[in-house]
Amino acid sequence: MRRLISSVLMPILAPSVLAADFANLERDIELINDSDADWFHVDIMDGVFVPNISFGVPVTEAIARHARKPLDVHLMIVQPEKYVETFAKAGAGIISVHWEACPHIHRTLSQIREAGCKAGVVLNPGTPVSVLEDVVQEADMVLLMSVNPGFGGQKFIENAVEKTARLKELILKRNASALIEIDGGVNLETGARLVKAGADVLVAGSFVFNAANPRQVIKELRALSK
Ligand code: DX5
Ligand code: ZN
Repeated sequence: MRRLISSVLMPILAPSVLAADFANLERDIELINDSDADWFHVDIMDGVFVPNISFGVPVTEAIARHARKPLDVHLMIVQPEKYVETFAKAGAGIISVHWEACPHIHRTLSQIREAGCKAGVVLNPGTPVSVLEDVVQEADMVLLMSVNPGFGGQKFIENAVEKTARLKELILKRNASALIEIDGGVNLETGARLVKAGADVLVAGSFVFNAANPRQVIKELRALSK
């Protein structure tokens, strides 16, 4: 994962494909390929863990066929351990699973690594970072939700900034090396504060794809510094 970081001062930027135009997916994938963005954030929703359905394996494979950057797959599904190998085969570089969906999170993180991917654990806004005390060392990445998962374009939950700082403390305290990724309501203003608080990776959906000039917005988000 470290080799994917072009500069320690710059956040990794992962535009969320959820906000792309699904009828022009290839065009929007090429837009990200040709931009300064680092990863593709791919949101998988099952209508059970979250109150929305997005897309599944065939669409992920189609994205992978065109993407020239790693796929950062965010599984918002129940029993994600059943689909780890499937999404790894579909082209995921990173697979993140929700702590709330995994009674055996330690085992599931190992399973993701055995499938050849980097392993991330995700916390909902209502889940404290302290639940990671005994597992943070097993994660390549911790993803903090700054909205309740399920939909793009929601309002940023302010608590996420302070929570990012607390997660950073925990990672340092446990001598871990997990990257901190933040997802939901990220724009230049919230992004700046998150990066200062310790965020390494920013996900941005509507802010990128609804912009008049997505490439310029991507450049500006990546230029935020610690
Ligand atoms: C929400 C998803 C996010 C979403 C972010 O459940 O996990 O990745 O696409 O969208 P914005 O950036 O519009 O809040
Ligand atoms: Zn996401």
